[in-house]
Amino acid sequence: MPSFRSATGQPGRGHPPEHWGSSLGFVLAAAGSAVGLGNLWGFAYRASQGGGGAFVLLYLLIVLVVCLPVLVAEMVLGRSTGHAPLLAPITAGGRRWAPLGWLYMAAAVGILAYYAVLMGWTGRSLLHALTAGLPADMAAAEAYFAAISSGGDAVVAHLLSLALTGVVVAAGIRGGIERLSRWGMPLLFLLLLGLLVWALTLPGAAEGYRTFLLRWDPAKLTDPTTIRNAFTQAFFSIGTGIGAILAYAAYLDRRSPIPREAACVVGMDTAVGLMAGCVTFPVVASFGLGDVVSGSTVGTLFIALPTGLASLGASGRVVAVLFFCLAYIAAITSSVSLLEVPTSSLIDRLGLSRRFTVWLLVVLIALLGLPSALDVAVLEKMDAVFGGVVLISGGLAMALLLGWGAPSRFLADLHQGGSPPALVLPLLWALRWVSPPAITAGLVVSVVDLVRSWSG
Ligand code: TRP
Repeated sequence: MPSFRSATGQPGRGHPPEHWGSSLGFVLAAAGSAVGLGNLWGFAYRASQGGGGAFVLLYLLIVLVVCLPVLVAEMVLGRSTGHAPLLAPITAGGRRWAPLGWLYMAAAVGILAYYAVLMGWTGRSLLHALTAGLPADMAAAEAYFAAISSGGDAVVAHLLSLALTGVVVAAGIRGGIERLSRWGMPLLFLLLLGLLVWALTLPGAAEGYRTFLLRWDPAKLTDPTTIRNAFTQAFFSIGTGIGAILAYAAYLDRRSPIPREAACVVGMDTAVGLMAGCVTFPVVASFGLGDVVSGSTVGTLFIALPTGLASLGASGRVVAVLFFCLAYIAAITSSVSLLEVPTSSLIDRLGLSRRFTVWLLVVLIALLGLPSALDVAVLEKMDAVFGGVVLISGGLAMALLLGWGAPSRFLADLHQGGSPPALVLPLLWALRWVSPPAITAGLVVSVVDLVRSWSG
């Protein structure tokens, strides 16, 4: 099937004539998609499940040698086809790749359905810290979290978060997503830097880094749970494998340097993950919350952070407000990328209007998210399936499609964008020979470990 791009490099038939205001706008939006709750809650909670330094090392390795080439491939697939995630695989690889487009749609919808619930908890915690203050002790924090994490409060916060995401995506690429990222990302970095400096002054700072991030146990390198955590965290945090960046890249200029942009996104995302760990772990160590965190679940930090900060009085409350603000900004710049996957796909496939498509999808996703908003156990299962196994499978398919199915497209697009062969060829090599076997191994270990954790 031919590409539907016109000679000007803009998407043609079936695609709205939208594009980014600038290369920086795209990079900020893509970084906004990558930096999210995954970096703040996910990184901390997975690192503290026992992996420590081994988890961090595996995570960095996977990000660099496995995810980076896949991210480049994903950007190439979007830009070179000019199509949304549903049709792009067909355009690049022919009809037999059609199921991949559906996998991307399902994964994005599935992830957003529970991601909006997590966003709701974040927004609710922000509001609580602002208006009511922090919980007096651990018991109060647990009671408070139980009250907001499921039931009526969670449902309302989930719906509001989805609606807010819908407002941004309905405003379009440039007027909505790019505008949000342009002010959101710099603000996020500023807040994080401030919190990082503050955390350094805590009495337990060194202890926090040592216990959680730097504790070295080589046996953990081969521990299946650590491996699953590292793979899941890498793919989820970069946000590659289900077409979110593909959707963004379809609005990208022919000439922009994709490998450099991908490296920026990966760099910013990893920096935020590590920086966030350097904020949360000192808090945990300083206030003696280690026990709470090591039996970690998705809710742990929502309980541990406010409890720790409460003992600092008013200044702790300010820090809590800033932290939840930061988390909410990170979350919404991510949720818009998830919603853009089905939105651009339906616009592309059916020629519907953006506004109509967005609100149709918001209603559907709101319903799909209800079980997660009512029961945290469902949320954890959704995360393990859509945010783990399905996502990693999508990444594997992406590597196979561009590495083996359509390598000439990969080379031609990057060549046209001005990337030197000395950079492009090693990337293609990694995409063919490193990513598929590594992802397959990671996937097998993850599925086995997941099944075991569910049955035991
Ligand atoms: N990366 C985001 C986070 O860390 C979440 C996210 C946005 C995502 N887009 C994605 C995850 C695409 C997987 C796939 O919170």
